[in-house]
Amino acid sequence: MIEAKNGVFNLATPNTSYIFKVGECGVLEHLYYGKRLDAFDAELMSNVQNVKICDATAYDKDHSLLFLDNLMTEFSTEGRGDYRLASMKASYDNGHSVLDFVYETYSITQGIPSMEGLPSVYGDEFCTLEVVLKERLFPLRLRLYYLVSDEKDAIVRFSRVENEGSEDVYIQALASLQLDVPNPYWNLVTLDGAWARERMVCDRPLRPGIHINDSKTGASGAFHNPAIALKAPNATELQGDVIGLNLIYSGNHQESVELSPYGRVRLLTGINPNTFTWRLKAKSSFTAPQAVMVYSDKGLNGMSHEMHRFVNENVCRGPWRDKERPVLVNNWEATYFDFNEEKLLDLADTAKDVGIELFVLDDGWFGEREDDTTSLGDWTANGRKLPNGLAGLSSKLHEKGLMFGIWIEPEMVSEKSRLFERHPDWRIAIPNRKPGVGRNQYILDWTREDVTDYMIACISTLLEESKANYVKWDMNRFFSDFNTQGSDKYFMGEFLHRYVLGFYKVLEALTAKFPDILFEGCASGGNRFDLGVLCYMNQIWTSDDTDVLMRQFIQWGTSFFYPQSVMGCHVSASPNHQSLRISSIEDRFNVAAFGILGYEMDLTRLPSNELDIIKEQIRFYKKNRRLFQFGTFTRDISYFNGGNNLKWLVADEEHLVMLDACMLNVPNMPNDRLVVPLLDAGFNARGTERLLVSSRVQRIDRSRLGDNASKFKEDQRGLGLETSVYAGQLESAGIVLGQRFTGSGDIRLTRIRPDFSTEMYIVDRMMI
Ligand code: DGJ
Repeated sequence: MIEAKNGVFNLATPNTSYIFKVGECGVLEHLYYGKRLDAFDAELMSNVQNVKICDATAYDKDHSLLFLDNLMTEFSTEGRGDYRLASMKASYDNGHSVLDFVYETYSITQGIPSMEGLPSVYGDEFCTLEVVLKERLFPLRLRLYYLVSDEKDAIVRFSRVENEGSEDVYIQALASLQLDVPNPYWNLVTLDGAWARERMVCDRPLRPGIHINDSKTGASGAFHNPAIALKAPNATELQGDVIGLNLIYSGNHQESVELSPYGRVRLLTGINPNTFTWRLKAKSSFTAPQAVMVYSDKGLNGMSHEMHRFVNENVCRGPWRDKERPVLVNNWEATYFDFNEEKLLDLADTAKDVGIELFVLDDGWFGEREDDTTSLGDWTANGRKLPNGLAGLSSKLHEKGLMFGIWIEPEMVSEKSRLFERHPDWRIAIPNRKPGVGRNQYILDWTREDVTDYMIACISTLLEESKANYVKWDMNRFFSDFNTQGSDKYFMGEFLHRYVLGFYKVLEALTAKFPDILFEGCASGGNRFDLGVLCYMNQIWTSDDTDVLMRQFIQWGTSFFYPQSVMGCHVSASPNHQSLRISSIEDRFNVAAFGILGYEMDLTRLPSNELDIIKEQIRFYKKNRRLFQFGTFTRDISYFNGGNNLKWLVADEEHLVMLDACMLNVPNMPNDRLVVPLLDAGFNARGTERLLVSSRVQRIDRSRLGDNASKFKEDQRGLGLETSVYAGQLESAGIVLGQRFTGSGDIRLTRIRPDFSTEMYIVDRMMI
C-alpha cells in the first residue's frame, strides 16, 4: 500500500513500513524504515534540529536549523552542507557541480515503469510511487521510484535523471537507492571472496567512516557481491533486525556504507562511480539500475526468506521458473579438453543408467580448441572431436532420453580464431597498445551494435542447429583497456555501462527467441552471481570449487540473498580438483543436494558400488526435488556462530529435510541432540502432533575407518534412526542421538563422524 497524505509518504508492505516526507525547503526527509507501523505521527519522527549545530552548514539564512549533514534524506548531492557521500554527482562544462534538488510532485500508478535496456523485476502485485524533484537553478529533473506490493516485504527502488536543458551534463554518480538509518549500532554483512572461494560471509561492526563494497573488474564479481546487509549486533539467524539490499546489475557496482559523525548510517548502492561518467545530452535521460531492499525483525533468515521469495517470483521468469531443474552431468572435470564423441557417449550411457536427465558438453567442443589458447568466437564444432557435429551428438543424446546442454562463452575472442582474423577491431583494445589478456583471451566489444547483432545471429544458429535444451553461458576474464576501436563516439566513462547494456541486449534477444532453453549463467565459477543475470537466466554456476567443506561456506553465504533454486551444485571427484581434500561421495552429495544437483566427474571410471550409491542419491533427490530446489531454505546453526557445525533446512508445510555437517571431528564429546526448529523453517506442526523422523541411509566410506574397517559388518550408516516424536519435543528437547565414534568400546554402535562429514535427517507428517 502506498499512501501519500499532507506531504508524508507511507509505503506499507505486509510487515514493514517505509516513511518519508516533504520537509522544509522541499527537502525529502527520510523518517523511518522498519517493522510495520499501522499508525504514526510523522512530526515525532522528524530530525530537523531545534538548536544550531556549532560549526555545521545550515541550508540558508532563512532556514538556520536545517542541517542537511544531520538529516536523514531520500536523496543527496554535494556542496549544500551534506558532507557524506552523495547519491548524485554531476557537473556542467563550466565546472558547475553543486546541485540542489527539491520536491515538485508525485504520482502513484499500478505496474512497473520501463527500464530502458536494463533488467527489471516484474509482478502484477506492484504499484509504483514516482516522486519528482527539480533542481532549483538548472533544467534537471530527478525521478525517484519506489515499487511496493501488499504481498511482499521487498521494496524495489531506482532513480532517473532528465536533462531538460540545451547543454550536456556529465553525471559522475547516480545511486539506485539511498537509505539513511538513524542509529549507528549495526553490523555490516558482506559476501567477499575470489575465484573458488566466492561469497564468504564477512560480518563486522560498523566503525566511523566509509566502507566501500564494490567491483571494478567489469562484472559484478566475486571480490564483493553487490548484496549487503545491516544487522543489529544482537541479531542471529532466527531473530533480530536485519536490512538486506541487492542491486539488479551485472557490471561494476558500489555499495558505500557511511557512519557519520552524527551517528547516522548512509547506504548507497548503484553503478560504481569510480569507473563511470555519463554524458547526459540535452533532452535525454539516464536511468540507474533497480535495487531491492528488505527489512526483517526475524533475523538473517527472515531477510533471506523474503529475498528468496522475491527472486523466485519477481526476478526469475519464463517456462523454467517454477519447473524442477534437471539433474545433470557435466564433462568438464571428467575430461577437460580431452574428449571425443565416443567418450562423451560412454559418459552419457553411465549417466543415463544412474538417473541423470541432462548431459552438458562443456568447453573444448568448437573450432580448433585443444586447450584454452584458441578458438573463442568460432562457434562451430571441432571436427576431430565431434565428427558428426553438435547435431549428431545432440540427436544421439536425445535418442537415449537425455537432454542436451551446451557451453558457450560468447563475449570472448581468442587471437587464434577465425573471428579475430576477420574482425580484429571487434576486440576491446586501445590502438597502438597491447591489450591486457586474461586466460589467453580478449573481450569482444559489446558496446557495438554490429558485434552484438552478429553474436545474436551466430548463437541463434548454434542453438537451432544443435537443438540444445540448456546453455551454460561462461565468461572467464576481467576487463581492461576500455575502448571502442576506431571510434570516439562517446565518453570512455560510459564504456563499461554500455557493455553491460550490450550484454543485456544479447541475453534479452536469445532468451526471448529460445524461451524453452534453460540458461545457466557462469563466470569462472560464480564471478557474476547477481540479480541482473537472474532476470534472464534461471540459474547460476555457484563456484568451480565443489569441495565438500568449501561448498558449505560458499552455499551458505550465497543463501543469504539467493535461493537454492538458482544455485548450480555439483558432486565432483575425490580428491577434489580445487582443494585436494578427500571426502566421501555421500557427504559431497548431502551438500550438493541443497541446490540444483549435478555430477561433474568421470562416472565411467567409478567402481560399481559408487555408481549404485549415486543411483540411490539421485532417486532420493528426485523424490525430494521440489523441496530441495524450491522449499523454504533456513540456516539454523552455522559456522558463523563460531561453531564446528552447520545446519541447513529445507521445508514446506508437510516435509522437511535437514543437513548436519561438522567441520572437524572431536572425539569423546557429549551426545548430540537432534533439535529441529520446525516453525522457523516453515514446517507448521502443532506441539502435540507426532512426526516421523528418519535419517537418510548413507554408505560407510570404509577407507576412512582404517584398522577398524573389519569391525563394521554393515555397509550402511545413518544410525538407522526412524522414530516418531512430538513436534514440540523435536523443537526443544530434541532426540538424543547415538554416540559418535570415539575409538573405544563397541564402536559398531557408534555414529561415524570423521572430519567434514554430514548427516541428513527427514521429518514427515505421520500418515494416519
Ligand atoms: C569456467 C567454468 O566455471 C567451469 O565450470 C568451466 O566451464 C570452465 N570455465 C571451462 O573453460
